[in-house]
Amino acid sequence: MTVRALTPVVEDRIWTLDRPVWFSGVRLRARTTVVRLDDGGLLLHSPAPPNDALAEELRALGPVRWLVIPNGFHHLGTPAAAARFPEAKVVGPASALGKNQALRLDVDIRDAAFGEQVPELERLPLDGVPFLDETVLYHRPTQTLLGVDLVLCADAKDHWTWRWAARAFGCYERLRVPPDVKKKIPDKAAAARSIQAMLARPAERLVVAHADIVEDGWRDRLAEAWRLVGADV
Ligand SMILES: [Fe+2]
Repeated sequence: MTVRALTPVVEDRIWTLDRPVWFSGVRLRARTTVVRLDDGGLLLHSPAPPNDALAEELRALGPVRWLVIPNGFHHLGTPAAAARFPEAKVVGPASALGKNQALRLDVDIRDAAFGEQVPELERLPLDGVPFLDETVLYHRPTQTLLGVDLVLCADAKDHWTWRWAARAFGCYERLRVPPDVKKKIPDKAAAARSIQAMLARPAERLVVAHADIVEDGWRDRLAEAWRLVGADV
């Protein structure tokens, strides 16, 4: 039996891949999400560096057309993914370029050109948090919000280092704004407006990088996390 790396989330449309990453002395799970677009092409959101098995699995699903860096941090796997899928366009924030010499960007994620080329996606920038510089995508056909670091949550599946730290930070089994982001929200009113725009979408689920996929009660849980850091959501 072939062991598949990708886990289906929405039949024939969305898959995820979780991998361990070390960050600040703890081992987190980091997620790549694969979206099959209306034209049959694939969009890799927060791409992992692809190995042969993953590349083969992706090619069986469709041509990789887009590599999306959703914020200023989730760029690390993109140069390797871009080398593996040279036909794919790289989308991301300009802020990622200064952090990664190996990176090239074809389209700025905040540029209208991206929205025009993939009209089934709506871009929802998280304003007021330049430290993250995150843009959430709403995929209309599957009613899915795709983000990375706007909230996170540890649970029993996580490595002991992160379970331990998450209990101290208050994000064990609770969806919360990441501890390193809490003090870096200079415009809480702008952040609140951005979160409200996400809450207003008819989404069935919220996918982020370092938590289980949030379905039941995603609105209340997202709003609570941002209220706790002073955003009037
Ligand atoms: Fe992250």
